[in-house]
Amino acid sequence: MSKIRRRAFVLGLGTLAGMGTSIVADELSHLSNQIQEISDRKGDFTVIRNTPLRKRATAKGLIYGATSQHRILSSDKKFAARFAQECAILVPEGELKWRTIHPSPNYFNFKPGDWMVEFAHAHGMLFRGHTLVWHGSLPRWFADTVNSRNVEQILLKHITTVAGHYAGKIHSWDVVNEAIHPPHGRTDGLRNTPWLQLLGPNYIDIAFRAAAKADPQALLVYNDFGLDGAAYQDELRRTAVLKLLERLKSVGTPVHALGIQAHWWGGVTRLDSGKLKAFLRDVADLDLKIMITEMDVTDKKLPKDVILRDRIVAGIYEDYLSVVLDEPAVIAVLTWGLSDRYTWLSKYQPRKDRAPVRPLPLDAQLNRKLAWNAIGRAFDNAPKR
Ligand code: G3I
Repeated sequence: MSKIRRRAFVLGLGTLAGMGTSIVADELSHLSNQIQEISDRKGDFTVIRNTPLRKRATAKGLIYGATSQHRILSSDKKFAARFAQECAILVPEGELKWRTIHPSPNYFNFKPGDWMVEFAHAHGMLFRGHTLVWHGSLPRWFADTVNSRNVEQILLKHITTVAGHYAGKIHSWDVVNEAIHPPHGRTDGLRNTPWLQLLGPNYIDIAFRAAAKADPQALLVYNDFGLDGAAYQDELRRTAVLKLLERLKSVGTPVHALGIQAHWWGGVTRLDSGKLKAFLRDVADLDLKIMITEMDVTDKKLPKDVILRDRIVAGIYEDYLSVVLDEPAVIAVLTWGLSDRYTWLSKYQPRKDRAPVRPLPLDAQLNRKLAWNAIGRAFDNAPKR
């Protein structure tokens, strides 16, 4: 029975189990288990030496880095210095998205992106692009201007211009982001985006072929979220993503890696190391590399107590990365920010108790947290690539 069919069979069973009120009860018991587990956990995430994360990762043939913004790195000098100390790769949080880089049909705004690639290279960092094709962050003119007659020409012009502009300066591109959305609608699990509506499923192949032509050196990545947990929904997403990657490879579309966003929900997302390991191996067997592209831990459901909350968040980083880094095809880990001072979660997933969120390796004062220790230990304990 093929890998895909085996997964579909398991899923069928999942549907039978049903959902609803059991979710809340589940979450609460999972949270209390997590609090118990972390209280019983021996050790306090001790790390040896003060070596920055980028060096710990490099020692194992891995790349560690994070996202940030032009506005932040160009104005907050202390933060910029810590960023360059800890990170070996930079990915812009928004500067290479359509809304910012292509604000009107015939104008490309490369200024913030150019500043960031110069900053990265000036500090010995790699630079990666996010993202050439996504249903999010599309500019206002898109809906009024793009139709089924001109969409392919406009998509090709965007990819050729943007990927061409940064050719030779970029480590990897998230060519297509979040194109999967099961179980909504289609059997192939494709998300019903403007790209799918106007161009059909082939838009993904068109995008990868155009990116490969514009920048033959860049690692071309398919990037998505919700691929990490034990939940039925995550298993559905893993199966749909694997199906997409198999199809792309079978027709020779130049995809080189899978980007796993890894936005973890503390107290909600559960780790099933067996399922995750098997999925990573299935991806690797397609001769694809794997990058953890946007890791962070949403802590809005975790206890307010900072010491306990930081220990739970650190435990999640350590447990997840120790499973993921065991897979030799995993080449990089990026967190979606470096310091709690600058995180999308403050705006998008604030805590009900209004306590500042603490999802990242450094606190808002740029001090190293237990999460930093956990990531450092994961690199120190990882097999060498
Ligand atoms: O730049 C404008 C600013 O001029 C304006 O004053 C301000 C007013 O709202 O908005 C600013 O744009 C914001 C932009 O971030 C830059 O900060 C947009 O409103 C806001 O929607 C945008 O949010 C980003 C979001 O993607 C949408 O692009 C988040 O910072 C970013 O963390 C988030 O990142 C996504 C990844 O791309 C894909 N995976 C999930 C991840 C988290 O949602």
